[in-house]
Amino acid sequence: MDKKALYKGSIDVLVGLQWGDEGKGKNIDDLLSSGDYSAVARFQGGANAGHTLQAGKINFIGHIVPSGCLRDGIELYIGSEVVVDVVSLIKEIKELKDLGFDVTSRLYISNRAKLVSYLHPYLDQAEEFRRNKDGGKIGTTSRGIGPTYSDSRARRGLLMGDIMFPDFENKEETLSSFHINLLNMYKKEYGFDFSNEQVQESKKKWFEAINEIKKLNICNLSHLVQERLSSGKNILAEGAQGIMLDLDYGDYPNVTSSNTLPANVCISLGVQHNTIRNIYGVIKAYTTKVGGGEFPSRIKDEAIEKLFQDAGHEFGATTGRPRMCGWLDLFALRYAIGLTGVNKIFINKADICPVDKVSVVIGYKKDREVLEEFPFHLKSVTDVITEEMLGWGTDNFGVSEKEKVSEALATYLNYVKEKLADFDVEIVSVGTGPDRAHSFTWDK
Ligand code: GDP
Ligand code: IMO
Ligand code: MG
Repeated sequence: MDKKALYKGSIDVLVGLQWGDEGKGKNIDDLLSSGDYSAVARFQGGANAGHTLQAGKINFIGHIVPSGCLRDGIELYIGSEVVVDVVSLIKEIKELKDLGFDVTSRLYISNRAKLVSYLHPYLDQAEEFRRNKDGGKIGTTSRGIGPTYSDSRARRGLLMGDIMFPDFENKEETLSSFHINLLNMYKKEYGFDFSNEQVQESKKKWFEAINEIKKLNICNLSHLVQERLSSGKNILAEGAQGIMLDLDYGDYPNVTSSNTLPANVCISLGVQHNTIRNIYGVIKAYTTKVGGGEFPSRIKDEAIEKLFQDAGHEFGATTGRPRMCGWLDLFALRYAIGLTGVNKIFINKADICPVDKVSVVIGYKKDREVLEEFPFHLKSVTDVITEEMLGWGTDNFGVSEKEKVSEALATYLNYVKEKLADFDVEIVSVGTGPDRAHSFTWDK
């Protein structure tokens, strides 16, 4: 029996299908031009994200503010599974105000969202320091993501709603003393050093930000979202990181500390699963990755990797680190589509191809064995199976009509579509530059 939808409105979800930085922010902003959505909701992660929005002369990198910020009238939600860095949030709100976008009245933060404390980034660095000594660091963004989620799961963390209660400072002090003990342990056992002066400076900035945050709409987001859906409004849920960085389905431990899968949307926004309508997935025409861990499709020839890095400006929007570049990995992509149920795909960076021939990874090998399933550990992958395609050059920059695309790019896009034919996905849009105007529709 079909289950009748409870609400008139729906939620569409957009996630990155690779290792992050696929261009999610740009595509969220793009989707809003349809006028179909009343809100954008961030549902996981924190200020580890860096989502670039370009609209004419405006260039904004959002770490925590949802990517609907440059669209007046669009409500912005931060869900319960997000870890909120209050200093970043206040900074971004100010940056947006300077750009002419006052988001305070349209921003709603779940009172159940997790609060990143001023000591969480230090704990993040301390844990990386230990891992480095004990066999390999993850290369986190140092934004305190892992420690904040750890505290949440251990049920000693602070929630956004806590800041409205008179016992907040006591709670915060209890947690901070626990953190200082931990940091002293890292110092004693591993030699991780931190400056007390710096900590005091971070504390001061954090409390100043908390005072600003108190003026914002901290609410029962689940109630608000259900109300909006009841009145027929559609909401766009924005993923951060990428499916390959999912805590449970990525290459653990080289992952982030949250679930990046669309399944997390309902938990974070406090709604039923049958509110989900479309699931959009974003990829680049090639692949990039930042941080530690294996990257099977990484371009082996350093000079070619550098060509992609330079042509694609592949430097982290949050940390500025160079991104490793790889070929499009269809084996990983098929795994990600299977996990997410994506039915519509965006392909970005179709203007970037600084080589005559490209490889595409279609399978993984473990010694002589061709892997049937995506492996538990990427370390077990000893080789990849590739197919070669003609490069499509860089002259598709800014193309906004399907008819104007070069033949080599059209062949590549059709090839990708064919390789995913059994999933019944459509390629909705292809990105040809960073601006919101730089894209064309493909399947429609
Ligand atoms: P996100 O984290 O997934 O939102 O992506 P990032 O903003 O971290 O990284 C994507 C980068 O690629 C940004 O610098 C975007 O401005 C840029 N970008 C997005 N789509 C395209 C595209 O189609 N072509 C080019 N050249 N750049 C793009
Ligand atoms: P967006 O949303 C790319 C990576 C880090 C590291 C691992 C864990 O812009 O796509 P964390 O700080 O989360 O504990 O780091 O995850 N990472 C990202 N890589 N884009 C991101 O976000 C990322 N957020 C985290 O480099 O390898
Ligand atoms: Mg990014």
